[in-house]
Amino acid sequence: MHLLQFTGLSGAGKTTIARSIKTALEAQGQPVAIIDGDVYRKNLCADLGFSAAHRLENIRRLGAVAHGFVCRGSIAIVAAINPYESGRRHMVHAYGARTVWLDCPLEVLQLRDTKGLYRRAALPEGHQEKIYNLTGVNDPYERPAAADLILHTGHESVDASVSRLLDFIRQCPPTRCPEWLRSE
Ligand code: ADX
Repeated sequence: MHLLQFTGLSGAGKTTIARSIKTALEAQGQPVAIIDGDVYRKNLCADLGFSAAHRLENIRRLGAVAHGFVCRGSIAIVAAINPYESGRRHMVHAYGARTVWLDCPLEVLQLRDTKGLYRRAALPEGHQEKIYNLTGVNDPYERPAAADLILHTGHESVDASVSRLLDFIRQCPPTRCPEWLRSE
């Protein structure tokens, strides 16, 4: 089975594409677990903020959860911003994760702004709604140097991205799991 780590800015389509691919694969009998940053930040990762250390701890925890699903026969998709190369490298070395970069230009995200976060990041200093650590605006996003697949979600349709991702998954060798984590 496979562990996919998505990476990309907020609003790039990580949750949307993860949900679409889950529907497509489960229609073929392949279970898929989505480990979504927004969801886990409400429970397992509720103690974490958006400093570099916390974002790395976030991805470390999401990776461990995802690996558990993979070793029980699911494809697991970690859908988080996952902005640092060291966090992504950890996922590759620890779990054989494949890296899928949802690359969408900041100008497109600022126009879409589904959660209003980009508007808030652009507010003047001292405004009570201003966000100071939004990834890609006033917090780092390290462009992936070793992505296995790049989805251009600024101009590619969701269907086109999902179809390319399905092709990619089909030709991927499965992730290895230790004996003690395999399902009986
Ligand atoms: S990660 O950087 O640690 O991988 P994660 O994907 O879990 O981030 O969480 C990102 C989500 O938190 C965003 O989709 C957004 O809804 C919310 N969020 C709130 N504040 C910020 C911020 N300063 N930077 C990025 N995302 C934020």
